[in-house]
Amino acid sequence: MSSPLFRSVKTLAAKSAAVRGFCSESLPERKVAILGAAGGIGQPLALLMKLNPRVSRLSLYDIANTPGVAADVSHINTRSEVAGYVGDDQLGQALEGSDVVIIPAGVPRKPGMTRDDLFNINAGIVKSLCTAIAKYCPHAIVNMISNPVNSTVPIAAEVFKKARTYDEKKLFGVTTLDVVRAKTFYAGKANVNIAEVNVPVVGGHAGVTILPLFSQATPKANLPDEDIKALTKRTQDGGTEVVEAKAGKGSATLSMAYAGALFADACLKGLNGVPDVVECSFVQSTVTELPFFASKVRLGQNGVEEVLGLGPLSDYEKEGLEKMKPELKSSIEKGIKFANSN
Ligand code: 2OP
Repeated sequence: MSSPLFRSVKTLAAKSAAVRGFCSESLPERKVAILGAAGGIGQPLALLMKLNPRVSRLSLYDIANTPGVAADVSHINTRSEVAGYVGDDQLGQALEGSDVVIIPAGVPRKPGMTRDDLFNINAGIVKSLCTAIAKYCPHAIVNMISNPVNSTVPIAAEVFKKARTYDEKKLFGVTTLDVVRAKTFYAGKANVNIAEVNVPVVGGHAGVTILPLFSQATPKANLPDEDIKALTKRTQDGGTEVVEAKAGKGSATLSMAYAGALFADACLKGLNGVPDVVECSFVQSTVTELPFFASKVRLGQNGVEEVLGLGPLSDYEKEGLEKMKPELKSSIEKGIKFANSN
């Protein structure tokens, strides 16, 4: 018969294995803050992050309605403690001690609008939230969802540079939804198991700046050129497809929350030392001549461990890459100019 001490150690081990759930790494305390947590993306994102065993504290911030969202989500019997914060006065508390800050705050598109049409409202929101991040959790990893991502990421970088807290390894534009869409559309067309599909998506997160690399998609399917063109166009217009279907009631919220949760989980895995975590993201980059660019990124304990190159491109993809550059360049410059001129 085993001793009481041995039995209690065994019980502890079993309990911690249960807390760890699907992952085998050790699970340190990790605080995740969501800014814009009561919004269309924020609420399902709060739910998904509450289900993540890598989170120990979930901080939900918005300008209104967060107490209700936090009370609701807090009843779910998973690891993290949930707290809701509302209004400017509580932003500091919401951010303090955060390891990862996810920003879906701002307004969504209406039919006929591009992501750039959101610039005038969302740029100011992002700027003030990033000013608070620089003050209250300067070492946090930041996952930017607020559109136009091609401009809001450069805005965040400029705000952090001014505050002397900028660490290019810790600032990410979330482009995971483009990858999610490319995988879904490819699996449908190629008739392959969707769970096995991988498609890198590079460039940015708006229209032609979204460039799925179907020539590198796995499992291989040898689709004809016209199918590749149609899949590329559908991936580039995926956000607009949802905006039009919602007919004035906003843009993608559920699939965006799913993608945001996937990417935040990848960042947490990297922080926790899980090896070989690779996701596409819009980051400071030397892959092209543009200062920010989305490509595959290896995530580690300090955020970006390595920005990976593009790999071999088809002629169609090479053309797409050159075609996107002027738009991406001007969106990046617009963000930098805004951050420095206000
Ligand atoms: C999208 O791609 C909301 O930007 C987001 O639908």
